[in-house]
Amino acid sequence: MLEIEKYHPKSRLGRWVQSRLPVISLVKEQFIDFPTPKNLNYWWTFGMILTVMLVVQLLTGIVLAMHYTPHEKMAFDSIEHIMRDVNFGWLIRYMHANGASFFFLAVYVHIFRGLYYGSYRAPREVLWILGVLIYLVMMTTGFTGYVLPWGQMSFWAATVITSMFSAVPEFGEPIVQWLWGGFSVGNPTLQRFYSLHYLLPFIIAAIVLLHVWALHYVGSNNPAGIEPKTKQDTVPFTPHVTMKDLYAAVVFLVLFSWFLFFQPNYLGHPDNYIPADPLVTPQHIVPEWYYLPFYAMLRAVPDKLGGVLVMFASIIVLFFVPWLDPCKAKSTRYRPIYRFFFWVLVADCIFLGWLGSKPAEGAYVALAQYGTAYYFIHFIILLPILGLIERPKNLPPTISAAVLEDIADREKKDEARKKKKEAQAAKKKADAAKKKAAEEEAARKKAADEAAKKEAAAKPAEAAKPADPAKPTDAAKPAEAEKPTDAAKPGDAKPGDAEKPTPKKEG
Ligand code: HEM
Repeated sequence: MLEIEKYHPKSRLGRWVQSRLPVISLVKEQFIDFPTPKNLNYWWTFGMILTVMLVVQLLTGIVLAMHYTPHEKMAFDSIEHIMRDVNFGWLIRYMHANGASFFFLAVYVHIFRGLYYGSYRAPREVLWILGVLIYLVMMTTGFTGYVLPWGQMSFWAATVITSMFSAVPEFGEPIVQWLWGGFSVGNPTLQRFYSLHYLLPFIIAAIVLLHVWALHYVGSNNPAGIEPKTKQDTVPFTPHVTMKDLYAAVVFLVLFSWFLFFQPNYLGHPDNYIPADPLVTPQHIVPEWYYLPFYAMLRAVPDKLGGVLVMFASIIVLFFVPWLDPCKAKSTRYRPIYRFFFWVLVADCIFLGWLGSKPAEGAYVALAQYGTAYYFIHFIILLPILGLIERPKNLPPTISAAVLEDIADREKKDEARKKKKEAQAAKKKADAAKKKAAEEEAARKKAADEAAKKEAAAKPAEAAKPADPAKPTDAAKPAEAEKPTDAAKPGDAKPGDAEKPTPKKEG
């Protein structure tokens, strides 16, 4: 980590505030001058996007809470009241519901970015662990929030997920009843979920502060996975990173708005517009899309306790990732073999998500077992073994060298692309010329054929002339044979010609 230059306010007011609360130097040093690796790509903008989404969720959640009633008899109707009667209530509710999905989308990109570039490796282990903690709290927050509209999916998702704890040996039943506040999911469950749902986002915000503190203490990783060595390897946080983050956040919000205004219910389940009914179980109880891979793992194991343990283990394993990867190179950019398996992991998670949306029967369960097995094999076997045996490509000595390598690479690629394009254009031209020549040749041939045909047609017609009954035959034309010119042509009006039989005209 490079030294950050100390800032001393110049104005009298600045100095007065600074000597009592060093907030001015904190902002200047940490968010303006802060040295950031100069090779960060757009995957590094998702931290800021997550921060924006957290603020969106907090603000819209607080406004929703002003109109929502956490009671089993009124919760569903209070949501309808928000949608229909409260000014812009529909917008605030849709922002909050879709915002949760986009928050998770961004967090998945953020986590996979970390896995790809080895951002969990020393000295960023605590930063990573805080991230996994945030993710766990996010999952709990999302789940408690989904229960609040008290629709069919809310009620039954709450029943399924809380019932998981009944798998705990001996204490299962009492734990579940303690969670419910009764003998089934009911009003006390709704009220405590509401209380937790209001509280947890502030816990997330607190852990995010620690997360960013840890980040600023050790500095950002970067696509090359090597630490900055000199000032030349970095750029100041403002304007370079702030502007890039702002741009990415706007693009992300445009995508978010598209869902919000054109497909606000696409990511939700239609059954949640049916009021909760403890007597009617929906045909398929499915959680929100962002829980689906874990839901598939839960159901992949036939034993209930086993399923619950596997599901929790799939997140717990993330805490240990920093110590499961011994490779010399952090960034997957320099590890072609591991890179392949990284993308298999991504595909596996998407596949598990798809399986989670299917009923837990037949081939779906078997496939989910394979998918779950790969997930664990990836972290527990492939990551350590490949880390030891794969020989990474040569690492650049500095970030500046990595940037130059990138530029040279890009230029090489551009050059290759240009050459390919030129070769394609030349080939296209040659093909066109060939085609044109072939066409001309064909036309010439056709014309010659037609001429030959015409000639052939003309000849028999000429030969047929004497057969015209109205005209005398050659033999009958003694005077012609006697024409001096004709007779003079060698081989034409030969003396025997007059005796030749006249060709018969057929047809
Ligand atoms: C509310 C959720 C979260 C917020 C607001 C948040 C915020 C941030 C911010 C602002 C950064 C710096 C910019 C960047 O590198 O993108 C960052 C970096 C990082 N975050 Fe998060 N984060 C969240 C969740 C997570 C989770 C769930 C994980 C992992 C499980 C995680 C792991 C990391 C790591 C390893 C870095 C350092 C990246 C690097 O320097 O290469 N974060 N986070």
